[in-house]
Amino acid sequence: MTSDDLFHSLTPRNPSILKGMKTPTEMARDALAQADALVITAGAGMGVDSGLPDFRGREGFWRHYPPFAKLGLSFEMVADPRWFTEDPRLAWGFYGHRLNLYRNATPHRGFQILLKAANRMQAGYYVVTSNVDGQFEKAGFDTSRIHEIHGSIHYLQCSTPCHQNIWSADQLHIEVSSEDFRATSTLPVCPRCGVTSRPNILMFSEWAWMSHNSDHQQSAFRTWLGSLHARRLVVIECGAGTAIPSIRSITCQVTRQFNGTLIRINPREYDVPPGQIALPCGALDGISQLI
Ligand SMILES: NC(=O)c1ccc[n+]([C@@H]2O[C@H](COP(=O)([O-])OP(=O)(O)OC[C@H]3O[C@@H](n4cnc5c(N)ncnc54)[C@H](O)[C@@H]3O)[C@@H](O)[C@H]2O)c1
Ligand SMILES: [Zn+2]
Repeated sequence: MTSDDLFHSLTPRNPSILKGMKTPTEMARDALAQADALVITAGAGMGVDSGLPDFRGREGFWRHYPPFAKLGLSFEMVADPRWFTEDPRLAWGFYGHRLNLYRNATPHRGFQILLKAANRMQAGYYVVTSNVDGQFEKAGFDTSRIHEIHGSIHYLQCSTPCHQNIWSADQLHIEVSSEDFRATSTLPVCPRCGVTSRPNILMFSEWAWMSHNSDHQQSAFRTWLGSLHARRLVVIECGAGTAIPSIRSITCQVTRQFNGTLIRINPREYDVPPGQIALPCGALDGISQLI
């Protein structure tokens, strides 16, 4: 069902009452056409139409990683930095597989549509995402306008950590066994102390994530927001879940701060505060309706 189907199914059948009422899609289009600043917020659902998993629920995670089902390990249990010291081949099996997946993925057409809309904004745009997959950068968004709140899998750090440096993972190639999902190739090490290095991303039960790249991005985002006095701001949120609502709370905070318009695109968790716009569909479908 599209957002407009839902709208019509909830609206009285008398055509004279419908007359003059705008559908959610029309309202979203109008808001975007009138906006001069755009914030795009995105969670794992944004990548689903590019063929990337969102790891929703235990079963969802285990469908993608059957060996972890056998071990009884959930996403939260595997995404724990302790594996880099206790069982580095298990840790790099999971993260190496994801690194390869994200490197090989092509961002779906919705990214291009959003980029075009973003580039038209008089006061510019910003992307805020909990995804660590680098898909916005790959789609051509300006890296200086992206805030990756949980870091990026395309960067590495020491797992101790013995120093603060963060370095590129571009030279890293990890082979992963398709049978047990363990890494079979040479593992990356910290150039300073020699322990296994790890992706520069926020994991669960975390204490060692070097967040300064993300912190710099956050302060640049805040500076940009601070320059936006009396602007017409639209926030387009795609595929952000409620289980870990970090992106959703940023969406709400920014929308409220600027008295802006929220367009929430999500096939399942699409509830919005009164007066805001929900498009209850997938990211590609919802974004395609906006222009
Ligand atoms: N690609 C990635 O980088 C990636 C992937 C999985 C998990 N994670 C991490 O795990 C956590 C997961 O939280 P989350 O809220 O991002 O994900 P989540 O899995 O909790 O929620 C995903 C949301 O996307 C929606 N969705 C499903 N299919 C969609 C589609 N086709 N189009 C649009 N939306 C769709 C779901 O209804 C849900 O609300 C985050 O902290 C994130 O850092 C990252
Ligand atoms: Zn080190």
